[in-house]
Amino acid sequence: MANIIDGKKIASEVRADIAAECAALKEKGITPGLAVIIVGEDPASKVYVKNKKKGCEEVGFHSEVYELPEETTEEELLALVHKLNGDDKIHGILVQLPLPKHLNDEVIIQNIDPKKDVDAFHEINVGKIMIGNHDFLPCTPAGVMVLLERSGIEVSGKECVVVGRSNIVGKPQAMLLLHANGTVTICHSRTKDLAEVTRRADILVVAIGKADFITGDMVKEGAVVIDVGMNRRADGKLTGDVDFATVEPKASYITPVPGGVGPMTITMLLSNTLTAAKKSVK
Ligand code: GUN
Repeated sequence: MANIIDGKKIASEVRADIAAECAALKEKGITPGLAVIIVGEDPASKVYVKNKKKGCEEVGFHSEVYELPEETTEEELLALVHKLNGDDKIHGILVQLPLPKHLNDEVIIQNIDPKKDVDAFHEINVGKIMIGNHDFLPCTPAGVMVLLERSGIEVSGKECVVVGRSNIVGKPQAMLLLHANGTVTICHSRTKDLAEVTRRADILVVAIGKADFITGDMVKEGAVVIDVGMNRRADGKLTGDVDFATVEPKASYITPVPGGVGPMTITMLLSNTLTAAKKSVK
């Protein structure tokens, strides 16, 4: 029987700390502010943006949400980003991805002031993470590291296997595990004999976006299994990338979906916004 890592509980503990720091900053006349921009009508993105706004309100941040129509041009979106770059009430700017196809994610992200890039997607922030001198850490991988720390799981010296190589999760996750002195392997769709690699993992982080992909036979007895996946089944139920029923009996620790990594992502966004606000007064 695995220990279930309760992401909701850990997220609420971290958010309580953020709320306390926010209250202290407000006494000095600074209210952390986050601007979220969403373009178009993607239903999943709308839910994420609503939750980001709610998260801000709960910890006492100022928040602004910009809902732009699908046909917004690159010039219009860049004009808004540039306006927010110069707005002292706003310490963090997040452009919800994916953008509609006619807009180039990279162009938009590289126009966000790196000091306000609370997603840590700007190339300056990605480079800083690579050399271990970061201002912000990307929200989901940072959330995974907090879950490991607060569960008392040591990374140093462990075999860490990351399944998935996205810029948002897989690549930065591998880097954070490396900085924590793990021995890290990144797997992807071209990996030969994936199960042979995943079975080596003391800590297995899965972020590939395929429902129930990792099964019990792919996991070592006693492994820590972190499921970043968030997939919707045909019946509407949420499920991760890990087949919980067959993996949980073998794991020592496992994150559920929902209620594992998910609640940490917005928590780390709030943490990054707080960091940006604090840095703005130095
Ligand atoms: N879409 C899905 N995840 C994310 C994220 O972490 N940041 C942004 N900006 N968009 C997303």
